[in-house]
Amino acid sequence: MRIIIDTDPGTDDAVAILIALAHFTDQEILGITTVAGNVGVKVGTKNALRILEHAGRNDIKVYEGESAPLERDLLTAEWVHGTDGLGGVPFPEPSKKEEQIDAVSFLKDSILNSEEKVTICVLGPMTNIGKALLEKPEIVENIEQIVFMGGSATGGNTTPAAEFNILVDPEAADVVLHCGAKLVMMGLDVTHQAISTSERIQNISDTKTKTSELLVGLMSRLANLEIVKKKFPDGTPVHDAFVTAYLVDNSLTTGNLVNVEVETSSDLTLGQTVVDINEISERDKNVHWMNLVDDNKLFSIITKTSLTLP
Ligand code: BDR
Ligand code: CA
Repeated sequence: MRIIIDTDPGTDDAVAILIALAHFTDQEILGITTVAGNVGVKVGTKNALRILEHAGRNDIKVYEGESAPLERDLLTAEWVHGTDGLGGVPFPEPSKKEEQIDAVSFLKDSILNSEEKVTICVLGPMTNIGKALLEKPEIVENIEQIVFMGGSATGGNTTPAAEFNILVDPEAADVVLHCGAKLVMMGLDVTHQAISTSERIQNISDTKTKTSELLVGLMSRLANLEIVKKKFPDGTPVHDAFVTAYLVDNSLTTGNLVNVEVETSSDLTLGQTVVDINEISERDKNVHWMNLVDDNKLFSIITKTSLTLP
């Protein structure tokens, strides 16, 4: 397995990265690329470095990416993740810096030059990978799959129609959806089916590692938001965790190969992913759209993460 994690950390991004660090080696993780999304890209880059510092994995390199979507102004979500992006959860200060080379250059070079095909985990807006594909479309030949958290077949979480990651950069999502690589979509359809209930949080807490404290802090930040409590009275979805947990165990979710398109112009439905679940259009089936989850599996992977890391 060769993996690149593209991320806007982000509390649930942090959970996803910790899962990857617990289950994959430094050789398997080619790098972490950051992108503007939940927070500005500089804060996100620092957060990626803070997470690696905690895990003692500073050999993994961090590449800072795009500071704004391809064609639009940036929309952030500090009200969800805090101004520090990690909900005030006390990750250490980093002792290392990001690399000099930018994320898009790294994506293009490392994918082209990798001896094994590369799996890209997209945990934020698709700006970096979209730009890399526009500039060097041939990288698609060496992409094993792009597993992304984003979109939904059934309504959004940021507007009635759109999920946050896709809404922030719908043009980049459009590039990725039509790039020809194998695409696996972890949308709200699956992420809303696995909730960090108090019992699951307690199980993680009981492992009594430093990582367990951090994981509980990250998930509690979201669970305590009033707007989340309205929909999920006990716990929260842990969206991005699906992407890396699926690489650990791809029986986590199942789904169907269908056509997915993204709305890039309407004011009303901008960023909506139109998922042809009923196979009505004759458009290309471009996405493995996940719709069923083994929710206990997700939380056993998160619990194992807290036992494996410091
Ligand atoms: C997605 O939006 C972000 O706020 C989260 O990190 C996740 O990637 C969920 O809609
Ligand atoms: Ca994210």
